[in-house]
Amino acid sequence: MIESFLLPKKAERIIVLQRIELASQFLKKLRKILGRYFFTNIVTRFFLNPKKISTKYYDLMKSEFLLINKYIHQNDKTYLSIGGGLGGLEVIVNSVRKDINFYFIERNYVSKKIVYGWGGEANREAYNNFELQENFLKINGFNFENFSLVDYDLKKFPLKKFDLVVSLFSLDYHYDFSIYHEYLKKISNDNTRIIFDTIRPDYFKDIFSKVIVINTNHDTVHKSKRIVCTSFIK
Ligand SMILES: C[S@@+](CC[C@H](N)C(=O)[O-])C[C@H]1O[C@@H](n2cnc3c(N)ncnc32)[C@H](O)[C@@H]1O
Repeated sequence: MIESFLLPKKAERIIVLQRIELASQFLKKLRKILGRYFFTNIVTRFFLNPKKISTKYYDLMKSEFLLINKYIHQNDKTYLSIGGGLGGLEVIVNSVRKDINFYFIERNYVSKKIVYGWGGEANREAYNNFELQENFLKINGFNFENFSLVDYDLKKFPLKKFDLVVSLFSLDYHYDFSIYHEYLKKISNDNTRIIFDTIRPDYFKDIFSKVIVINTNHDTVHKSKRIVCTSFIK
């Protein structure tokens, strides 16, 4: 398994916007005092230590990997990441599973003022940058032969069956599952595992035959559960 991450210049900003828990207590306080616009546009540009963020991001992504690893099966060949951010988790999965094809659906802009709220179906917020993401994947040895990065806003989603769909702190955490519901039905079969963090795990018991809670997130922006869902009922 890859043992650390290299970061392209300016990637630390995007990482902290994607994972606010990586900001120090001091910076989080600044966010409260100075406001979200100032935090998004000034603090994350000038007050971050790239080396520290790189180490913390790697440790966090490794712990995410260890949490979901059990649900990655030996014969899996296709992995869809929805809102995977820079892709630290996928770099780790790729480092141990070169035989998997990776598809990412993400957005290619950073909102001016990030609220981290529930965007519902409006789903306006984004904090990613495709150039940085591709650079990050490249310098960390990601295998580009089996790779596709799709812009959510262009709506040209990959139409193939996936073994795994992973969306950490994105699908049904910041925006409504309904945005992807019909699409996910099309691209899954009864063995597809769909893993995401949600603020309403019980809601999914009517949508999938099987819903397993694998983690409870206390220290994140919203209290939520990580669930693994299989086999659509509706
Ligand atoms: C809180 S971040 C989480 C990033 C990453 N999954 C992680 O755990 O570090 C949420 C991500 O969802 C992305 N996003 C927002 N709306 C999206 C959509 N409709 N489809 C795919 N990604 C989306 C944002 O750009 C952002 O990178």
